Amino acid sequence: MIITRSADDLAQALGAPSHPVGFVPTMGALHAGHASLFAAARDECETLVASIFVNAMQFDRPEDLAKYPRTLESDLQICRSEKVDVVYCPDQTAMYPTGFSTVVSVGRLGRILEGADRPGHFDGVATVVTKLLSSCRADVAYFGQKDFQQLAVIRRLALDLNLGVDIRMVPTVRDHDGLALSSRNIRLSDEGRRRALSIPRSLEAARTEYERPGSTPSSVEEAAKAALEASGMLIHYVVVVDAETFVEADGFDRTSAILVAATVDGVRLIDNALLD
Ligand code: PAF
Repeated sequence: MIITRSADDLAQALGAPSHPVGFVPTMGALHAGHASLFAAARDECETLVASIFVNAMQFDRPEDLAKYPRTLESDLQICRSEKVDVVYCPDQTAMYPTGFSTVVSVGRLGRILEGADRPGHFDGVATVVTKLLSSCRADVAYFGQKDFQQLAVIRRLALDLNLGVDIRMVPTVRDHDGLALSSRNIRLSDEGRRRALSIPRSLEAARTEYERPGSTPSSVEEAAKAALEASGMLIHYVVVVDAETFVEADGFDRTSAILVAATVDGVRLIDNALLD
């Protein structure tokens, strides 16, 4: 496995890569959710590139950035065991040298829901992902379903900017108790984690309501909210949207998604389910 720290080193390490080149961007603190992205990419691609970069530009709160776990050595071990060919782990200066001034902004999709609560977050994501996709010369890039809005933002930018890369969604990996894996989960107390389990429960309640003849997007939202409210978590949103456009749906003619965001122990958690 080759470890590179600048875009030039990365280009040199890739040389003339065997295609397809699969790419998994990460911010490190790797867990089984990332391993499932690596496994999907390894299955479908000849060359596997991963990046590890804690992107300060996408953090709206400095304390969140400060608390983000940095575990480079064990991350590299995981990359090795997942048979990654090339890892790109630039520092902030290599990614954003003096004079850097371009921001990629994806419009409405980047400003609603997570984007409304965390101003600038998706501009940061879109900017770094655009840079990473072009530096890695990826044919296919893999993202987890857990960050469903991020996935929609990246699909949009890849299409709008003709990046020529397929964006693949890999299903969310859950812990034995149903909580979606996230690098943030380690910040939960036992009690916080117990409360956080109301998130997967709310998605189950949403699915059950969805399957009831006569259900509507608002009845599905109400069912999910009721399950969350019981936990006393701070609810940011519970919303049913069209899975592609993120427009709030009137009915279920097209694939819908229910998206949930709530905070416990000062840790913001998100999750979602496709209603299909
Ligand atoms: O999902 C993440 O880990 C990050 O948002 C990403 C896509 C690596 C961009 O920094």
